[in-house]
Amino acid sequence: MSKKITYTYNSRYPSVADLRKKAKSRIPKFAFDYLEGGANEELNLARNESDFDDIYLKPQYLHVAGDIDMSVELFGRRYSAPFGISPIGLQGLIWPNAPEILAKAAAKHDIPYTLSTVSTSSIERIAEVSDGKAWFQLYHPTENQLRDDILRRLKDVECPVLVVLVDVPSFGLRYREIKSGLSMPPKMNISNIFQAMIRPTWGIKTLQHGIPSFATLKPYMEKGLDLNQLGKFMNRTFTGKVNYEKVKAIRDIWKGPLVLKGITTEQDLQAAIELGADGVIVSNHGGRQIDAGESSIRSLIQLNANHVYKEKIKIMVDGGIRSGVDLGRAHAVGSDFNFMGRPFMYGLGALGDQGGDHTITMFKAQLYQVMQQLTLENISQFPGRLIQR
Ligand SMILES: Cc1cc2nc3c(=O)[nH]c(=O)nc-3n(C[C@H](O)[C@H](O)[C@H](O)COP(=O)(O)O)c2cc1C
Repeated sequence: MSKKITYTYNSRYPSVADLRKKAKSRIPKFAFDYLEGGANEELNLARNESDFDDIYLKPQYLHVAGDIDMSVELFGRRYSAPFGISPIGLQGLIWPNAPEILAKAAAKHDIPYTLSTVSTSSIERIAEVSDGKAWFQLYHPTENQLRDDILRRLKDVECPVLVVLVDVPSFGLRYREIKSGLSMPPKMNISNIFQAMIRPTWGIKTLQHGIPSFATLKPYMEKGLDLNQLGKFMNRTFTGKVNYEKVKAIRDIWKGPLVLKGITTEQDLQAAIELGADGVIVSNHGGRQIDAGESSIRSLIQLNANHVYKEKIKIMVDGGIRSGVDLGRAHAVGSDFNFMGRPFMYGLGALGDQGGDHTITMFKAQLYQVMQQLTLENISQFPGRLIQR
């Protein structure tokens, strides 16, 4: 008799759609718009989700399967499930104390949480609450001195994986953010203050945890900057532009696992391999940069990850994953590991401190059910269940 695992979570929220609906009623509109928005007309944002629908999986009912093990090995560590939490800037503005809640939940579940350079908790604090398990995503600083100092801090806390973001040579043009005043420099206008007042839980928790700030960057900022000065500081401090030479310099300094995030083409994937990166995240920044681009799952399919590159580099994906079925689909077309951004923030918006734990458990339960249905024992068997068309 094979062993069956039962996952327990709040049954009022069995799906991402349920969490999203509740979160929308608890997060102020300007922050929810910031979370949800995509570039321009938001076409690529929509494709990120809908292109998953075209990937079909087949069962094999008479196959005798043993126990299910959804754990995977990545960069010398074993994670309990093949997904992690994407970096999100200004996370604590969307839900107070978000980085700490998510980093703790991820550490408890043994999955990776990734802290953004422009998130609202510091490298040191997140290392502490995650028992040193959290990954870090670097926005490339304009000055090498700042880059070196951030890398030194990561080394000091023994950060296990460095993710370098490559897909922001310009800030995405997002109409929702421009309208709500969340572009750089950010504005707190009367409308935003009103939106916060009608979301009392968010307001009280924000008072408890303090006004969110770019905690990792604090040592490099002058004290007491107003919003306008803060915007100027951010524009001055980060170019966003990363190229071959800049990654090469990082590879020379950073000896641990190095991942490039935002890869969508064969040329960039080959460059990543040449540069000695250990992994890439196929990603279009959650549809927030190029509206005319393809969905990230399409990019992954085009890269033919199952075949050509399998032995050379870890190929991971994010963008539009909304269920255990989507996780299975991503593996079927060659993903080694997956990340999600918005779903975890919906979880926090809906369930506060319990949101991280709930959302992780929910995805584990969903993935487990898909594996049972397809009679799979481990994640690497998904490609065998892809319906080729
Ligand atoms: C509100 C928001 C802020 C983000 N900030 C960052 C960031 O600071 N650094 C980064 O590498 N990616 C950032 N991303 C992109 C995510 O890491 C991830 O690629 C994307 O959310 C995945 O798509 P999904 O939300 O559909 O899962 C952000 C995404 C959102 C929605």
